[in-house]
Amino acid sequence: MDTQSRLNTYWSTRAADYAAFQEAREALPGVGAAWRGIWDEALPDGVRDVLEVGCGSGTVTRQLATLGHRVTGIDLAEGMLREANARPVPGPGSARYLADDAVCPDFAPASFDAIVCRYLLWTLMCTREALPRWRDLLRPGGVVACVDALWYPEGIEAIHTGADHHDAAFLGTYDQQVRGDLDLAEARSIEVHLDAFRAAGFDDIAARSLPALMDLDRRWGVAPGHRPRLQFLIVAGRRD
Ligand SMILES: C[S@@+](CC[C@H](N)C(=O)[O-])C[C@H]1O[C@@H](n2cnc3c(N)ncnc32)[C@H](O)[C@@H]1O
Repeated sequence: MDTQSRLNTYWSTRAADYAAFQEAREALPGVGAAWRGIWDEALPDGVRDVLEVGCGSGTVTRQLATLGHRVTGIDLAEGMLREANARPVPGPGSARYLADDAVCPDFAPASFDAIVCRYLLWTLMCTREALPRWRDLLRPGGVVACVDALWYPEGIEAIHTGADHHDAAFLGTYDQQVRGDLDLAEARSIEVHLDAFRAAGFDDIAARSLPALMDLDRRWGVAPGHRPRLQFLIVAGRRD
């Protein structure tokens, strides 16, 4: 099976548990507000149409709808899209979910004011093809805002024996073949991410770490198999 199909199967199979965990986490004191604050600060005034790539079970989609945006969430894992569609979308914005590939989203150029993703970059194939396409999908003045982390700087193989205890399904999926097809899964520096944004022709590329999220992780715990990691936000623009 090709790498993307294996990833889709993995995330579909995990979708119900993933959605339940994210939903419970979102309800913990401080968590939802912290995320809404991150997106609110990252997206300029006037942003209306947002494409969320790799939306999963729709946690960020709903955060963005709460902020008043008109969100299109795309993902390739049918199970994730089912979980997303099963949850009500809060106003004052709106959301729709589509099965589509984040590497080559099927929209006309200049369709969106912003593109957002959370926890996609590390598991995205063909980043260097995807990012220029994302730039083309932005209207002039638009931005891309991505939150991720260096989840596996020691390499995914190291977690067989390390402090992270991922389950067999994860380790079976993210094997040598899959790891070889992912550009950022085992990145050791955010410079690798920033280089990809530079190569894609973005303007005004900025990154900052998000220590408040790490504080929340230490307070409330993290997903099974993980340990608290410092997350970062990358914002990159299209001036014209
Ligand atoms: C770790 S989950 C993150 C889900 C969601 N963004 C969140 O923050 O809860 C990664 C998601 O990226 C999706 N994904 C991976 N590669 C993709 C691609 N090429 N196109 C669309 N979705 C993709 C997976 O199906 C999965 O739902």
